Amino acid sequence: MSSGKNAKSKNKSTAKKAEEDAAFRLVTVYIMGKPYKVPAEATIMGAIEYAGQQIIRGAGCREGFCGACGAIFRLPGDYKIYSGLACTTVVQEGMTLTQIPAFPVQKAVYDLEKLEPNAATFQKVYPVVFRCVSCNTCTKVCPQGLQVMDYVNAAMRGDVEAVMDLSFDCVCCGLCAMRCPAEIVQHKVGILGKRLYGRYLRKHSPELAERVKQIEAGVFDKEFSQLMAMSKEKLKKAYYDRDME
Ligand code: FES
Repeated sequence: MSSGKNAKSKNKSTAKKAEEDAAFRLVTVYIMGKPYKVPAEATIMGAIEYAGQQIIRGAGCREGFCGACGAIFRLPGDYKIYSGLACTTVVQEGMTLTQIPAFPVQKAVYDLEKLEPNAATFQKVYPVVFRCVSCNTCTKVCPQGLQVMDYVNAAMRGDVEAVMDLSFDCVCCGLCAMRCPAEIVQHKVGILGKRLYGRYLRKHSPELAERVKQIEAGVFDKEFSQLMAMSKEKLKKAYYDRDME
């Protein structure tokens, strides 16, 4: 009986040790062409910082939402260029990587009130859309797995709802624009589609109207003040403990 207990606890500690070993296993990655040993479980962003570089720009949420940290990499013996978000993509042995700084784009300035939700608007604001050669590279590079080329094609057809829908989860990392041979700025086209949809096509929501009325009447003022007074840690806990639909 007691030897069974001992065996169990031995198995447990062996498993724990294996877990710890895995956590501290190092792999070699190449950052800006130079080899570094970094923890096998590090993300690309973690590996860059572990290698001693400070990331001041090109990092925001560190949780895969803000799109500030587009990265590209290659793996040993593999011709392909891979991409991902540096804060969520885990390193691999032999990975050659680089984080992409803010990618330069032409951001159109427009007055939403003077636009119409149709193809002519996309043509006027982002004429480059019509240069699409349907190579699908934008879709292949998207770290969010979005059908980017499909929403570019939807913009050409003036299907604003499809542009909004297909680009909804875009984090604006700009990797699509970086790889596009036609120099389209797909993520900005997606934003235009979402704005047009929100301004002209969205369905009326009585629930939203009611909630806005409540906010204006100060129903949530006390709750807002409490949130504003919370420490970062408490706010984080409240966020993760919140009711999810
Ligand atoms: S830092 Fe926000 S998505 Fe990576």
